[in-house]
Amino acid sequence: MKKIAVFASGTGTNFEAIAKACEDGRIAAQVALMVCDKPGAEVEHRARRHGIPAFVFSPRSYASKADFEREIVARLDAAGVSLVCLAGYMRLIGPTLLDAYRGRIINIHPSLLPAFKGAHAVEDAVAYGVKVFGITIHYVDETLDGGPIIAQRAFPYEGSDPAEVHRLGQIIEHQLYIETIQKIIDESISKCQ
Ligand code: GRF
Repeated sequence: MKKIAVFASGTGTNFEAIAKACEDGRIAAQVALMVCDKPGAEVEHRARRHGIPAFVFSPRSYASKADFEREIVARLDAAGVSLVCLAGYMRLIGPTLLDAYRGRIINIHPSLLPAFKGAHAVEDAVAYGVKVFGITIHYVDETLDGGPIIAQRAFPYEGSDPAEVHRLGQIIEHQLYIETIQKIIDESISKCQ
């Protein structure tokens, strides 16, 4: 069984969707580790409810990003993780983690990249007046929301309420992330055959 890790910093609705899909077989993998950089975040409670091992840490208690990323890499290695799924992990991945898991880290972003990179993608898109919004899943490299695109899904919205765009977008995110993770697993299995 493939082992995946999910990284999150907050609410964790994508984590929850992925965990449920692994439990009911829509994703042929096990969530072997949840990583969170915000002690007390809701995602921590979700991991506990699903019985998923969690590494929850406070970046301030490490001397540097390289130090806490070394610890993350050790835990990913120990858990046998082959795919890392960032789902609202509000931190740029540094060279320590990137070099260890290059090509095996993916991220979900609430815009049609390369438009509206960064932490306020939905708010920026609404402020710009766009009429078609969307979700992107991409490989992670050293650039902000800049790695090769794996999947995108668009949806129309003509209003001006960012909360509504977030709501509509999350419904799509949960489906698209599950489908994309399973597709990556299928492709990696067929490469091995
Ligand atoms: C999602 O909108 C995702 O696109 C972005 O962060 C948000 C995480 O939401 N990267 P949740 O914590 O999974 O509910």
